[in-house]
Amino acid sequence: MLHLYIVDQLSSVINQISLLEITYIVASILFIFGLKMLSHPLTARRGNILAACGMAAAIVATILWHQKEGKHIGNIPWILGAIVIGTIIGWTIAKKVKMTAMPQLVSFFNGMGGAAAALISMMEFPHVSPELIAEKGMSNGHVLAILLGLMIGTVSWAGSMIAYGKLDGWIGDLRIKWMKYVNLTILAVLIGFIVFIMTRNVPSTSELTPYIYIMFAVAVVYGVLFVMPIGGADMPVVISLLNSFTGVAAAMGGFLYNNQAMLTGGILVGSAGTILTILMCRAMNRSLLNVIVGVFGGGGQAAGAVAGSIKEITLSDAAVLLSYSKKVVIVPGYGLAVAQAQHICHELDKLLDEKGVEVKYAIHPVAGRMPGHMNVLLAEADVPYEQLIESDEINPDLPNTDVLVVIGANDVVNPAAEDDPSSPIYGMPIVRAREAKNIIVMKRGMGKGYAAIENMLFFNDKTRMLFGDAKCRN
Ligand code: TAP
Repeated sequence: MLHLYIVDQLSSVINQISLLEITYIVASILFIFGLKMLSHPLTARRGNILAACGMAAAIVATILWHQKEGKHIGNIPWILGAIVIGTIIGWTIAKKVKMTAMPQLVSFFNGMGGAAAALISMMEFPHVSPELIAEKGMSNGHVLAILLGLMIGTVSWAGSMIAYGKLDGWIGDLRIKWMKYVNLTILAVLIGFIVFIMTRNVPSTSELTPYIYIMFAVAVVYGVLFVMPIGGADMPVVISLLNSFTGVAAAMGGFLYNNQAMLTGGILVGSAGTILTILMCRAMNRSLLNVIVGVFGGGGQAAGAVAGSIKEITLSDAAVLLSYSKKVVIVPGYGLAVAQAQHICHELDKLLDEKGVEVKYAIHPVAGRMPGHMNVLLAEADVPYEQLIESDEINPDLPNTDVLVVIGANDVVNPAAEDDPSSPIYGMPIVRAREAKNIIVMKRGMGKGYAAIENMLFFNDKTRMLFGDAKCRN
C-alpha cells in the first residue's frame, strides 16, 4: 500500500513540474556529479564531459521549452549564431593552448563569465517591472541581484583580464604603498552606489539607468586596481578568487531569471572557488583579507647574501647515485611543464623501479602555474596516482630519502620560505628538500623561479646541480 502511495505522490509532483524544470534539475545533478568527479585525476575528464552535458541540456531546454510554455524568447537566430561562433572559438583555443598557458586561458574564460553576468545586469536593469517597484519600492531582491551581479561580474571580468595579461607576461606589477586605501575607497563607493540606487523613490528604473553605467565604470577601475599590485607567488589565489566571483555573479543571474540550473551552476562555481581560494591561502600562508584589498605578495625582492658555492654533478654520476639508492623523491615544478618532460620523467622512474628503487613524487599545491598542474601533467604520462604524495605528507619522510631530485622546481623548494622573514614567499609551506640525504637539482641554469628570488637550496652542501633542459636525455 505504502509503495502505491509513494508512486501516487511522486507522479502528482511530476505532473506539477514542467519538462523545463525537470531538465534543470537533471542539469544541476550533472553539475554536482561532474564537480565531484573533477576532484580525482582518474575521473576528472569524465566529470568535465558530464558537466558539459548538463550545460548543453540546460541551454537546449531553455530555448525549446520556454517557447512551448508561451514564454517569449526572441532573437533565436542570434542566440544560435552566438552559440556556434562561441563554440568554434572556445574549442579552437582550448585545443591549441599549450599546457603552460593554461592559467591564462582559465583566467580569460573566467573573465568572459564575469562579463556575461555584468551584461545581463545592464540589460535587465531598465526592464525591472514598474509594478514590482510600485509594490515593493526599489529596495527589493530583484534590483539587489541585478546590482550585485553587475558589481561582482564587472570586477571579475576586469580583474581576470589583468590577471590574463600578467600571466601572459605583457602586464607587469604596479605596487604603490597607498593603493590598498584607494582600493578600499573604491569598494566603498561601489557599495554606496548600490545603497543609493536601492533607496531612491522612483516609479521606474529608467531615470537611474545612467548610474548603472557609472557603477560599471567604477567597478572596472576596481577590478583593474585590485589585481594590478598582485604578483609573484600570489597569482593563483587571485585567479581562484575571481573564479568564485564569477560564480556568485552567475548565481545572481539565476536568481533574476528564476533559472535553477544557472543558480546551481553559479553557486557551485562560487563555493568551489571560495573553498579553493581558502585552501590556497593556507597553502601559501596568506590571509584572504589581504587578497581582497590587493596588497599582498610579490616577487622581485632580492634575497639575503648568498653563502656557499654551486657544485655540479655529471649525468653519469647522477645515474649511479640514483641507481644505488633505496628511496628517491622527485619534486616536479614549472620547468618540467615547460619542457614537457613528464613522459621522460616517468621513464626514469620506471627504470629505477625495475632496479628496486622506491620512487615517489612530492606534489606541492602551487607547483607550476595552476592548481593541480603537476597532477595533470603526471597523470597524462600515466604515473600511478599512488606515487603522487602531497608535500605536507611527504615532508616527514624526507630525512630517510636517499636522493631528492628537483626537476624544474624552484620556489616550492626554497628554504627562504622558512628562514627569511623578509622574503616575499616567507610562510609558504614548501617541500623540505634540504632534509634529504642528497639533492640533485635539474634546471637549465641559475634562472630564478616565479617569485624572482635567490634559492639557497642550490648552494647547500648536499646539493648537486645537473644543468640542462628537463627533457634532455644526455
Ligand atoms: P618556479 O619557481 O617558477 O621555477 C621554475 C624553474 O624551472 C625556474 O627556476 C627555471 O630555472 C626552471 N626551468 C624553466 N624551464 C626549464 C626547462 N625547460 N628545463 C628545466 N628547468 C626549467 O616553479 P615552481 O617551483 O613550480 O613554483 C611555482 C611558482 O609559481 C610558485 O611561486 C607559485 O606560487 C607560482 N604560481 C603558481 C600557480 C599555481 S596555481 N600553481 C599559478 C601562478 C603562479 P632555469 O631558468 O634556470 O631553467
